[in-house]
Order: sequence, then structure tokens, then C-alpha cells
Amino acid sequence: MKVTLRIVLSIFIAISLIVLLFTLFQVQQEKARLKAELEHRVSLLAESLEESVAPLVGQGNLDRLKSIVGKFSNRQRLEGVAIYDTKDNLIAATPDLAPMPPTIPTIVTDAMNANQAEGVFITIKDKRRYLYVLPINRDGNVAGALVIFNDATYIQERLFQIWKNNFVRLLVQAFFISLITMLVIRWSISGPIARLVEWMKGFREDKAIEPFHLPKGNIFEPLTKEITHMVRSIMVARSAAEEEARLRHTADSLWTAKRLTEHIRSLLKDKNLFVVSNREPYMHVRSGDQMECIIPASGLVTAVEPVLEACGGLWIAHGSGEADKEVVDQQDKIRVPPEEPLYTLKRVWLTTEEEEGYYFGFSNEGLWPLCHIAHTRPIFRRVDWNHYQTVNEKFARAVLEEIYATDEPLVLVQDYHFALLPRLIKEERPDARIALFWHIPWPNPESFGICPWQREILDGMLGADLIGFHIQLHCNNFLDTVDKALESRIDWEHFAVKRKDHTTYVKPFPISIAYPGDSNNLNLTRIKKGDIFKQLGIKSRLLGVGVDRLDYTKGILERLRAIERFLDKYPDYKGKFTFVELGAPSRTLIKRYQELVKEIEAEVERINARFQTGDWKPIILLKRHHSHKEIKPFYESADVCLVTSLHDGMNLVAKEYVAAREDEQGVLILSRFTGASRELRDALIVNPYNIEQMADALRTALEMDEEEQRARMQKMRESLRSNNIYRWAANLIEELTKIRIEY
Ligand code: F6P
Repeated sequence: MKVTLRIVLSIFIAISLIVLLFTLFQVQQEKARLKAELEHRVSLLAESLEESVAPLVGQGNLDRLKSIVGKFSNRQRLEGVAIYDTKDNLIAATPDLAPMPPTIPTIVTDAMNANQAEGVFITIKDKRRYLYVLPINRDGNVAGALVIFNDATYIQERLFQIWKNNFVRLLVQAFFISLITMLVIRWSISGPIARLVEWMKGFREDKAIEPFHLPKGNIFEPLTKEITHMVRSIMVARSAAEEEARLRHTADSLWTAKRLTEHIRSLLKDKNLFVVSNREPYMHVRSGDQMECIIPASGLVTAVEPVLEACGGLWIAHGSGEADKEVVDQQDKIRVPPEEPLYTLKRVWLTTEEEEGYYFGFSNEGLWPLCHIAHTRPIFRRVDWNHYQTVNEKFARAVLEEIYATDEPLVLVQDYHFALLPRLIKEERPDARIALFWHIPWPNPESFGICPWQREILDGMLGADLIGFHIQLHCNNFLDTVDKALESRIDWEHFAVKRKDHTTYVKPFPISIAYPGDSNNLNLTRIKKGDIFKQLGIKSRLLGVGVDRLDYTKGILERLRAIERFLDKYPDYKGKFTFVELGAPSRTLIKRYQELVKEIEAEVERINARFQTGDWKPIILLKRHHSHKEIKPFYESADVCLVTSLHDGMNLVAKEYVAAREDEQGVLILSRFTGASRELRDALIVNPYNIEQMADALRTALEMDEEEQRARMQKMRESLRSNNIYRWAANLIEELTKIRIEY
């Protein structure tokens, strides 16, 4: 209040000073104008009068003179006219001049002596007057003087009027400006501050769950952003502390970020962790003329990022964002996450040809369909293979440069993009401990055998000391493949391959997510299902969600057909159930992916055309990249989440949905061909090729009572809690450090 008063007072004083200055200026100008106008008018009158009276002065024709002069009385502001002779005697005057002082003002004498007209403002009998004296000439001599008396009080009155008007204007302006200022202060400053304080109080008392928002452009927006970050960090710390406390009372087998940090520190001492992947955790892209930092839609990133956040270290990845180069230092490095840097990202640049051959070509048209067996034929081209080798060599050089000064460095190579990397590093640095984690399935030897360079790929991989897959089946398939393709000895007892004096251990490490304990899981946002439908512009009651990269392995078409079958079979759900697909476009340069997007769009259109009514649709396809923050409300509100991959190494969407359900409600429909189905056994497990079964599972999910939902969700959350990403990283790294390296 005090501040408001101070601001209003200051504004009032400032306006007063401005008005005062302007009024002074205006008054001066007006005064000069009025005076000049009066002088001009009077001099004209005097000159015209002089012509009539000059011949009469000195002739003694006083009666005629008096009659001429008498005519000039009673004119506006003209008080009268007097004629003096050269001896200063009044010889004629208008009758109204009687109350004037009988003494002649000296100005008359002076004007006659100088024979020059003169005007003066003078106060006579307490009244401001203007006297104009014009010498009368006859025959070249001064014969007398014509004096005009004018009322000049109106000038003062006019000036006073200006002061008065401006004062009233000042009051009105000051009132309105103060009022507007107070309102603006209230709306833009004290209001938001009061709300912010209330919000922080709620948070302190553990009640604040809604994020604090101010309209875009509000001056406090940066401040609230910072406060929100701070609150998030405090909430993370608070929940970590709660988790720690909980852990003290439960089994020691639960892993948190903190515990992983300590564990890795004790394993690595002061050494850095080196991670290599194709996909980078943060991409700088352009959105209009703004630069944006986005987290790519990638299971790998979802999983590995929390590990780097907990342990620090260096992550080497392909810089694929169009603005990536603009933000790195001279060594192509940048500290991330951008809001709170915890580790370093080093970007490796690829030429367009390299990216096309290595990433789109060999990795994603060759190895990806080869390993997934989702009925898309792998394409192997010599030129792609050449680029694949070149890029693996490029990344090997980048890794070797970085590990140069570290003894027995620990290198975690990620995924099928870098099958050759372990061997390339090992040849140069036999002391390095290298793990290769394969994020996608490994097929049976016959399937893998169609790859023309299977031996080179297997040899490259076996440069690693440890190879990880999500599940045991993929480990077995890999060992079988090596057994059939390479000269080697398979140790089935220890799940290892011995080749050229080097042993590679092959083990399952089911990857997971940061649960609990990452800020994404904190309940800062709570958008209701009704709001989601409203934002989508439809009316519905039950919500289904799918979150995928638009990839043919994800079984999206099968899912859509299952929804169609469900509505045909259970028509009561028409108008009540809507499925939203949050589909991130992926690998869009590849023809098969372009075709898939068209097929999905056509199916959505076809099914909607069959069922949709005025304000309801069965399927909504939101085809764009969605941030974690945007996806979260869908996870939190969906009655059912559909993960129907035709084949998937793990699938972290299934785990993210379970993690988001703090209310222990919602049902997960999960393909039996995902790694996740081995762990999340309380999902409704389906065969995505069986449309009838999926339609029925959808109905079971939507009709499941709350108790059963809770029981299933609790068990899945418990499993997730003990098999989180921290445990994955701890197991993998510990296993790697246990291996005896001979060099
Ligand atoms: O699942 C395999 C994988 O490479 C993941 O590692 C990653 O999450 C996903 O595919 C995304 O693919 P891309 O990096 O090609 O967009």
C-alpha cells in the first residue's frame, strides 16, 4: 500500500511540475499576445481619430471636438478618449473619463515632448489600464495629444482563467492517471505478487500442485520461471529425502539417483563416465526466429539421461539439431541440461551423405528392420555400409580423443548405430572397459544371417567387454548368432564369447526409467480429462492414449483397427470413448516411414468417417513432437494406454504411463512382443496381430473396476520402483568394472 501511495504521489508531483511549466509558458505567451493585440487595436483607433481631431485642435472649436470625442465612449473595453493641449490642459474628453485622476500622467507630456506615440500599462484607481498617447501635429508642430484609456483588466482575468482551467485539468488528469496506475499496479504487480506468495505458501504447506502461470510478457514471467525451477528442485529434493527415508525402512535393494551417484563414485573413483550414442539428449532447433532446446522422442534418451544427470560425465552424440552448432564451444561441447548443467554433451558433426548412409540407410533401413522382424524388408546397400564404417571410425576418433588422459576409462556405447565402435576403441585402447548396450531386439541367427556384413558387425561388437540386451532371449539369440557366424567359443555357463584371447560377456539388463525421483514425476501439473477433451474440441467420457514415434514396429495400424473393431463389437462406446495418438514423426527421409504416416492418416480418417458424430470422434491423431510436459497430462488422465508394438526391445512408454499414475488408476494394454511385458505382468497382455483380442482387451480395460485397476497398478509401480533406471545403470556399470581386463 505504501509503495502504491508513493508511486501515485510521485506521479502526481511529476504531473504537477509538468502542468506548472506548461501553464507558465502558456500564460506568458497569452499575455504577450493579448497585450500586442490591445496595443495594435488602440494604435489603429488613435490614428483614425487623429485624422478627425487634428484640424480642430488649436482652432478653438471645442464643441465640435467634444462631440467627436464623445462618440467614442461606451465601446468595449475602451474607457474613454481625452485631448490635451500642449500646456497639458484637458480640452476635450468622453464623459466616462470623469472618475480618472485630474492629474495628467507624465507619459502624455513625454510623448508630446518627444513627438512620438507611446503606450503604457498603468494602474489607476486600483484598476489596470492601458494608456495610449498620440501627439497631434498641425502644420508640422505638436498641437496637443490624443490619449486613449483602455480597460486592461481582462488580460489578468484571461490569464487567471488559464491558471484555473489548467489546475482543474491537472486535478482531473492526476485523478485518472493515479486511478489507472493503481489498477495497473494491482493487475500487473501486486496482484501477481499476491498470487505468487499464496502459491509459495501453498507449496510450503505441501498444498501447491498447480504450476504458477503468468500471462506471456508479464514482467514477473522470468522471476516466476526461476521460482518454479527452484520449487521443482526443492520438490525433487523433498521427494528424494522422503524416498531416502522410505528406503531406510524398506529393503536395501531400491535404487535412487543419489544412491547411484554414490555407488558410481565409489566404483569409478575420480574417473569420468563416457557415453556414446547416435541420438543426443538435447537438440537445438529453430522455431520461427527463436531457438528452442528440445528433448528428442527417444527411449534411449529417456533412459540414459537420468544416469548422466546422477553421475556426471561426457556424452558424445551426433549433433543433429539445425541450431546445434551455434551453441557449442570450440571443442563442440555444451553443458546440459540447459537449466541446471550436470554433465557435458559433445557433438559430432556428420555430412549429409554420412547421415543418409549411416543413419537413414544402414542403421534404419538395414539393421532396424533386420532386428525387429516387423515384416518390413531390410535394405542393405554397399554405399550405406561404407558410410556406416566411416561414421563409426569418426566416433571412435572422438572417443579416443576424450579418453586420452584417463587410465582404464569406462565407455558405454549405445545401440545398433555403433556396432563397430567397441572393436575400433579396443584396438587403440586395450585398457578401456567397454560396454555395448543394444536397445533393440536381437533376432534368431537365421534372420540375422541375411545381413551381408554380419561377420564384421559381430566382430565389431565383440570388441566390447560386456554386451547388454533387454532380455535373456535376445542374449541367447546373439550368442547363437555368434556361434553360427564366427570362429569363437561360447561359454554358455557364463554367457560369454571367447575370441582371439578376448572375452565378451553377454547379459540382460532390462532398461527402465527414472522412477521415482525425477522432476517429471512430480505432481506440479494436473490437467483434467475434461480439459483435454475441451482442448481437442470434442465431447467424450473415456480417454485412451498412445505415445509413439511414428514407426512401423509400434503396431499403430493394428491398434487403430482394434479400436474400429471395438466400436463395431461394443457400440455402446460410440460417443463415449476417444483414443488420442501422440505420434512423433520419425526418420522422415525414409520411404517406408513416409508411407506409414500416410497409411496411419488414411486409417484415422476412414475410421473417423465411419463413426464420428457432431462433437465426438473416436480417434485423434496429434502428429508432432510432444515434450514430456505435454505428454504427462495424457498419461495422468487416460483410462487406458495402448502399447501394441509388433516387436520392441523394451518400450518405455509403458513404464512412463505406470509411473505417471500416482492415483493408481488406469489400465495398460501391452503387447507381448515388448521387453516390458516381461516385467509389467499386471498389464492386459495382448498379441497385436490379434485384432479381436485387442478389441476385447480394450473393453475389459474400460470396464475394469477401480479396485482391480488399483491392485494391478500398485504391483506394476512396485516392480518399476525396484527395477528403475538407477538399478539398470548400477548393474551394468558394476558388471563392467568387475570384469578383469587383460592388456
Ligand atoms: O529403440 C531404438 C532407438 O534407437 C532408441 O535408442 C531410440 O529411442 C529410438 O530408437 C529413436 O530412434 P531415433 O534416434 O532414430 O529417432
